[in-house]
Amino acid sequence: MDFGFYCNNIVLIGFMGSGKTYIGSHLAQELHCFLLDCDTLIEQTYNSSITDIFKHYGEKHFRNLELKLQQWLIGNIKSSVIATGGGMPLLCHSLKNIGTVFFLDVDFEIIKQRLNAAQTAKRPLLSDINKAYTLYNYRKPIYIKAAHHIINANQTRDQIINEITTLSRSTP
Ligand code: S3P
Repeated sequence: MDFGFYCNNIVLIGFMGSGKTYIGSHLAQELHCFLLDCDTLIEQTYNSSITDIFKHYGEKHFRNLELKLQQWLIGNIKSSVIATGGGMPLLCHSLKNIGTVFFLDVDFEIIKQRLNAAQTAKRPLLSDINKAYTLYNYRKPIYIKAAHHIINANQTRDQIINEITTLSRSTP
């Protein structure tokens, strides 16, 4: 498989722990292109962890950085896989202008099983699991609206990748 046949970016959205970076990295390898991880781009650019950005400047500041990143991605990136941060679709309403948007839809129970203590510690919005569940339910319709395609991401990695690559080819 060669990304040369396909130029639209692939944008992965979904709740924390839905596998955006994990699937994105395997998808990029499969398509012979590169993965851009939005959280990592923000952390590296501002030389600060997400946790520290939240702690020192607040969530609103972080969301503004995501908006700025969205604009940059629209103008500058092509033929890539982009793993967004779980909250990007809240304020970033132009994700469809970056590329074909796939919502990785995973059951909350599976997300809970996947995230170990270290992964939870990196995500300020997961510190209270009950609040995280409320957030999960609140966000689901936002993800659905933001996406071109909804992927059942409770499936195996290979099934997910297969579905995304097939759908990408059929999206003009
Ligand atoms: C967030 C998700 C995180 C990160 C930040 C906020 C969210 O990214 O951007 O902690 O609001 O859902 P992941 O979805 O990659 O964990």
